[in-house]
Amino acid sequence: MEKDVYILAIESSCDETAAAVVKNGREVLSNVIYSQIALHTEYGGVVPEIASRKHIEKINQVIGQALADADRELSQMSAIAVTYGPGLVGALLVGVSAAKAISFASGIPLVGVHHIEGHISANYIENKELKPPFICLVVSGGHSHLVVVKDYGEYEIIGRTRDDAAGEAFDKVARAIGLGYPGGPKIDKVSKEGDPEAICFPRAKVGNAEYDFSFSGLKSAVLNYLNSCQMKGEEINVADVAASFQKAVIDVLVEHSMEAVRKYGYKKFAIAGGVASNSGLRKAFEEACQKDGIEFYHPSPVYCTDNAAMIGTAAYYEFQKGVRHGFDLNAVPNLKLGERV
Ligand code: KG4
Ligand code: ZN
Repeated sequence: MEKDVYILAIESSCDETAAAVVKNGREVLSNVIYSQIALHTEYGGVVPEIASRKHIEKINQVIGQALADADRELSQMSAIAVTYGPGLVGALLVGVSAAKAISFASGIPLVGVHHIEGHISANYIENKELKPPFICLVVSGGHSHLVVVKDYGEYEIIGRTRDDAAGEAFDKVARAIGLGYPGGPKIDKVSKEGDPEAICFPRAKVGNAEYDFSFSGLKSAVLNYLNSCQMKGEEINVADVAASFQKAVIDVLVEHSMEAVRKYGYKKFAIAGGVASNSGLRKAFEEACQKDGIEFYHPSPVYCTDNAAMIGTAAYYEFQKGVRHGFDLNAVPNLKLGERV
């Protein structure tokens, strides 16, 4: 019988200090997330220096809690996994330094993980039957990528945003209509009260690049709409603006993704990243996939936004392939998907 593989995973690329213990790649024994959202809310977004300092303060406690919740000792771990990019350099460095220190002191191997690979791998946690190849739409605060997952750890990016990431657009529009930070969950909630057909915002096409996205034009259209209402002294219906904006984002994401699914001929499609927890987006993909006879996968909301369990899952497949990192592992803020350092 093969020996069980336990991975202690650490994630600190943005504003969540997180650690998890994952057994054999897909069984989450613990998933501890210290969210810094409340700290950054008064600034309307993540302040990198504050994020780094808070990570330092919390990281040991979060790692200890992850081991305790899993009822496992550090000595039982097969590997220490950590996100080393992309992300905020100061924030990444805290997790990378902690993982290296633990690995050095314990002799347990170190495995560096790409943050987006983590987001994609979040789909494996609750869908035990899901295996590559499939197409995955990754939509988070910093990224909007349409990815062909050819195999574990093997990716081809076929579409990306030319400007703002989808989550960034949610956050900026939410700020403009007075909903505050983080905007995604708030727009999701108030959209339920609004009419998605009330205002016709643009759906951007990006030249000949079939699968690329652009959200800055949409964001400007919302801002222009708000300004013109203000100038005319018209009252703004926040729920209608939110619902119409959300619908415009969803339409573009669904159209591009389904086109890619048809072209590549895969029968499986997944979504990942913070924006993947959007209820309207999930419903739209459920319907589109059902219509086309495609199996649709999505993680639970807790595995959509940043967490360490997804890093442990991604690390498992790297670990099984023999990937090990040395103590020269560094934070790489603009690490490319599929790139190995
Ligand atoms: O994946 P994530 O936690 O961090 C990054 O790697 O960027 O994503 C955070 C982003 C934020 O922009 C947040 O507004 C967005 O995900 N988000 C949502 C929802 N929940 C989080 N966007 C739309 N609807 C949601 N329910
Ligand atoms: Zn993320």
